[in-house]
Amino acid sequence: MDVFTAIKERRSCRKFLPDAVGEELIEKILEAAAWAPSPANNQPWEFIVITSPDIKKTIHDESVACKKKIYKKSGWGWVDKYQAGFLLEAPVLIAVIGDSEKTGAHKFLEGTEDTYQHACAAAIQNMLLAAHAQGLGSLWFTLFDREAMKKTLGIDPPREPLALVCIGQSAGSAFQTPRKDAKEKTRYIR
Ligand SMILES: Cc1cc2nc3c(=O)[nH]c(=O)nc-3n(C[C@H](O)[C@H](O)[C@H](O)COP(=O)(O)O)c2cc1C
Repeated sequence: MDVFTAIKERRSCRKFLPDAVGEELIEKILEAAAWAPSPANNQPWEFIVITSPDIKKTIHDESVACKKKIYKKSGWGWVDKYQAGFLLEAPVLIAVIGDSEKTGAHKFLEGTEDTYQHACAAAIQNMLLAAHAQGLGSLWFTLFDREAMKKTLGIDPPREPLALVCIGQSAGSAFQTPRKDAKEKTRYIR
């Protein structure tokens, strides 16, 4: 599959089949992640591959609690309706951990110390595209309390859990989200 097709076809998957995902597919997805760009090539990511039903349940329950907090503050109906059952269904969750000290030269440029997060985001997008190219569904998931997630996964500062990538065989077609034309978001300075 060419990269442009993968970019345009990939959609967030929130319903997974229980079928296990082979280790070689997961390794390929992690290899794609590791080839992402990063500041001074410092590769500020680590990955935790979670298949334990107990840990998935803990993550799910914490996420439901987090969602309730967000709903209380926002009053947003979609948050109230949001179902996180895919955290239990997806055969594999990959936690993406960023090292907040690996910011490259930005350590010395006040206000730009978030470059490790940029690099981890690039790694995550590579994972989603690699999953899609191998016929798997995936979701970039961030609706969790970072402190709770640190405890669940045994993460200490300066490392931060930034996202979970849920991976598995998709159960049905994903919602086709629209996009604005890039021209609407672009300005040229010539
Ligand atoms: C930084 C980031 C965080 C996201 N967090 C969540 C999340 O917590 N839960 C979720 O269901 N989707 C999450 N998404 C997926 C977006 O909702 C989704 O990408 C967007 O609606 C566009 O849909 P598409 O991925 O199908 O094209 C996240 C995406 C990004 C980039």
